[in-house]
Amino acid sequence: MISVVRGMRDLHGNELAAWQQAEDVIRATTAAFGYSEYRTPILEFTELFKRGVGTDTDIVGKEMYTFEDRGGDSLTLRPEMTAPIVRAAIENNLVRHSPTTRLWYLGPLFRYERPQKGRYRQFHQFGAECLGSAHPEADAEIILLAMETLAGIGISSFRLEVNTLGSPESRAAYRAELVAYLSSNIDALSADSVRRLDTNPLRILDSKDPADAEVVKGAPRLYDYLDDDSKAHFGAVCGILDSAGIPYTVNHRMVRGLDYYSHTVFEIVTDALGSQNAICGGGRYDPLFAILGGTATPAVGFSIGMERVMLLLEAEHGGWTPAAGPHVFLCCASDAARLPSQLLALRLRRAGLSVVTDVLRRSVKAQVREADKLSAQLMVTLGDDEMERQEVVVKHMASREQRSVPLAALVDEVMKDLKA
Ligand code: HAM
Repeated sequence: MISVVRGMRDLHGNELAAWQQAEDVIRATTAAFGYSEYRTPILEFTELFKRGVGTDTDIVGKEMYTFEDRGGDSLTLRPEMTAPIVRAAIENNLVRHSPTTRLWYLGPLFRYERPQKGRYRQFHQFGAECLGSAHPEADAEIILLAMETLAGIGISSFRLEVNTLGSPESRAAYRAELVAYLSSNIDALSADSVRRLDTNPLRILDSKDPADAEVVKGAPRLYDYLDDDSKAHFGAVCGILDSAGIPYTVNHRMVRGLDYYSHTVFEIVTDALGSQNAICGGGRYDPLFAILGGTATPAVGFSIGMERVMLLLEAEHGGWTPAAGPHVFLCCASDAARLPSQLLALRLRRAGLSVVTDVLRRSVKAQVREADKLSAQLMVTLGDDEMERQEVVVKHMASREQRSVPLAALVDEVMKDLKA
């Protein structure tokens, strides 16, 4: 037997129906905020992520599915969506055509991580990116879109944490102070953090290692090193959230795991999923367009991990709501009715109904059992007697009440029964 690839999942049944409902909410909410869907290929040149996400990040350093194609190009299964969206925006001149470009996406991503509940090697993100504005209204719009979507999907056990990384210049000054402080405590740091001291010292701030956390408690605070403009920008974002009545906490240690951020960063976290507590991550990434060879363009966005949202939905609602069954099970009660019953099913389907027929040539009893199993609302039976009288029997599956209906009036009568 060949199994599914480790860290990847099949989606079906009631769970898939719940995903589709969540996707409907996503379409409605993004439309309400004026965002358009954008689809990019699943494969990109490896260089896009190396440059865009940063070679010192976990994603690029150890999590990418990278391979050489038959033409010798190094390609990577996309591990995140922001770099591909910016690549597409530069390549297709999106921001020049419209000064703010609002895009959303939903699709599979790939990271070679150690699989566990809420962490997969193929997972899905819904995300949105607002390209072209450096103003705090754009940061707030993005945060509000993420929060409104999660509430619309029907979950509530999450909270918003925000922080600011300030401008790259003010962060550079802080970085030097931080490295000096951490170096003087190097013996107390985890091996991972000692390695990061050279490559990505800010990431030590949100290390989950208890020894690191102890050292970090005494570390200088990034906020204290920020210039006035950076502080004013962050203050304005928080002001909009306050006015909109969105609760949040400022987490001064949040730095996020990707290199492209500046100014606002945020996460939406939950206590209900164990260690995989982030359901959404995002922030402003003003440097990214230039890093990828485009004209400097301010931008801000977020990505929501769909698997984690769906786990939370399942936990909060105590399971999946069963998906609705077909409108009609069409029961064929004789050999002669086989073809006419298939044609009847087609007639009902063309009238907009969902209809399941028997293709196993089973007994009427077995077909009734199947109709119950599928939770069909009605069963329409066609046999020799019915064909002779030009009628069918329409049975309401829940009440077991049934009546004869002239074939010519079938569609109207079935519609009436479904509404009743
Ligand atoms: P990220 O924090 O790497 O950010 O991922 C965002 C979300 O994707 C996480 O909060 C989590 O819910 C989900 N996620 C990440 N890895 C996995 C995994 N292995 N299994 C299941 N879910 C996962 C980004 O990707 C940025 N592109 C966000 C962004 C958009 N920043 C600006 N615009």
